[in-house]
Amino acid sequence: MVISLVSALLCCSAATILLLQWRRRRTLQSLIAEARARRGRSLQDMEKAARKFRDQNPSHQPDPILSLSLPELCEKLRNGSLSPEAVFYTYVDKASKVTQDVNCVTDYLKDSESQLLHVKSTEKKGLLYGVPVSIKDSIDCKGHDSTSGFVKCLNRPATTDAVVVQVLKHQGAIPFVKTNVPQSLMSYDCSNLIFGQTVHPQDHTRTPGGSSGGEGALIKSGGSLLGIGTDMGGSIRLPAGFCGICGFKTTGNRISKQGIMAGIRGQKSVTAGVGPMAKDVDSLALCLRALLCEEMFRLDPRVPPLPFNEQVYSSSHPLRIGYYATDSFTMPSPSMKRAVLETKQLLEKAGHVLIPFQPIQVDHFMFNIGTRGVFADGCATFLENFEGESSDPRLKDLLYIAKLPNWLRHLLSWIIRPISPRISEALKNMTERSVKELWVLHTEIEKYCQKFIAEWKKLDLDVMLCPELGPAFKIGFPGKVSVGSSYTLLFNYLDFPAGVVPVTTVTKEDEEELKSHRGYYNDKWDKLFVKAMEGAVGFPVAVQCVALPWQDELCLRFMREVENLTKERSRVS
Ligand SMILES: *[C@@H]1O[C@H](CO)[C@@H](O)[C@H](O)[C@H]1NC(C)=O
Ligand SMILES: *[C@@H]1O[C@H](CO)[C@@H](O)[C@H](O)[C@H]1NC(C)=O
Ligand SMILES: *[C@@H]1O[C@H](CO)[C@@H](O)[C@H](O)[C@H]1NC(C)=O
Repeated sequence: MVISLVSALLCCSAATILLLQWRRRRTLQSLIAEARARRGRSLQDMEKAARKFRDQNPSHQPDPILSLSLPELCEKLRNGSLSPEAVFYTYVDKASKVTQDVNCVTDYLKDSESQLLHVKSTEKKGLLYGVPVSIKDSIDCKGHDSTSGFVKCLNRPATTDAVVVQVLKHQGAIPFVKTNVPQSLMSYDCSNLIFGQTVHPQDHTRTPGGSSGGEGALIKSGGSLLGIGTDMGGSIRLPAGFCGICGFKTTGNRISKQGIMAGIRGQKSVTAGVGPMAKDVDSLALCLRALLCEEMFRLDPRVPPLPFNEQVYSSSHPLRIGYYATDSFTMPSPSMKRAVLETKQLLEKAGHVLIPFQPIQVDHFMFNIGTRGVFADGCATFLENFEGESSDPRLKDLLYIAKLPNWLRHLLSWIIRPISPRISEALKNMTERSVKELWVLHTEIEKYCQKFIAEWKKLDLDVMLCPELGPAFKIGFPGKVSVGSSYTLLFNYLDFPAGVVPVTTVTKEDEEELKSHRGYYNDKWDKLFVKAMEGAVGFPVAVQCVALPWQDELCLRFMREVENLTKERSRVS
């Protein structure tokens, strides 16, 4: 009697749980379907707007506009030889077309049509007068969702523009679309369950990188000249490097982060930076020149009121450049290494002084500092975002580890130690710590940074040249090889400005050499690293350029130099 009652109760509760789960999934699915339908209408609105403009202006020619660089376009808009409408509808059209191909645009900011009218009616022409700008999903635009790929963020439109968006508009720019990101932003792939996977413009089986991956793919495909991204471990630099464009992460607080979603709310161990992405360095500089203005300092008084330093950006004295081709943790792919060494030669020939630099204990940094800092709460904040959500399959590995209870993580770490010391250490360092331990960690970060700067000063360096992860990984691999971010994550912890410039493409010789790549640890991660990159002949490879904190203009000047020398070399050969 009792037994049958208990089993009836159990049956009942099991059925209730299943029913609840089924209902939750149904709700999620209908919210997703609704969001997709809305995105579909957005893209139709873009097509319609572009068609209407073409019908009204039969002599309109998009190609000459699309072939202009950002500085050229700005000049023509300012002196009136191009109208803001012609430029705007050309890019609306192009962005909607390339999205059919690479799935990068998630939303059309329809109010940009009124911003266009507003821009035209103002007397004073801002530095970005009439320039259409694309905006990463996680940056607030009034009246539109910032989702970070989470269903729970749908139908919660931002009530104000993020400060960067306000400043862009103040300078006459026209923010016109939002672009795709990976769910949670904590990945350098670019996929979520709402908008799907953004793919690499050159090969749809590869990822454009992330988390600002929609920007990377859109700009590379010519659907935008200037995009705004954010970077907490490489999220601007990795997609720029994978796609073969330029990207710049500013010093953490140089540009306001007000109105921008964080990957992990509240953590203060690692510093995210905001920055531009574009096809050339001059465009990045133009964007910074426009953003670093009184309007931003007024809107967000926490940002130091440092205007763009023209003198530093346009200087041409020879530089003392530190360089390294490996961080002795992630063995660079053959093309990454070649990119650094060839760029070093070009810089030397141009009269700069290059000095070898040894990055300090990157293995210690990656686990004891990097992993520990981001997941100091035992992954709780990260996991909170996933409550009541379905998760993107690309995040499977990370979520699996994140969900383990502390004791099991310790046990697992101990068990796999002999097979894979690196994975074992990562596991151990993802456990929850006390406030006291966190403060010890912050002291360690401070010490690490001081040591790094002392080394830099000892060699009397101006800037640093180092590898940037590449070529583009196949889809799904970033989530399996998160250690690949070692080259970029370092400069978030140090909070140095850092940017990437594409300098070469993968050759057949690189590809051949990759076959014997073993890595420093010969573990699962090293093996996956090779698999992720295989078969990428012709794909772009970049270098990373770095400067000390607040030397953003010097970093850009160095990037421009690298870009110029690279272009000259390809002209000669
Ligand atoms: C505007 O600037 C462009 C590019 O510098 C130049 O070619 C063009 O002649 C200028 N047009 C006018 C009307 O000044
Ligand atoms: C983190 O990993 C390092 C190895 O780099 C290890 O020595 C250390 O004990 C780990 N820290 C904790 C608190 O588990
Ligand atoms: C690029 O290189 C050329 C040739 O050396 C030089 O004349 C020019 O000033 C350089 N441009 C920049 C922007 O550094």
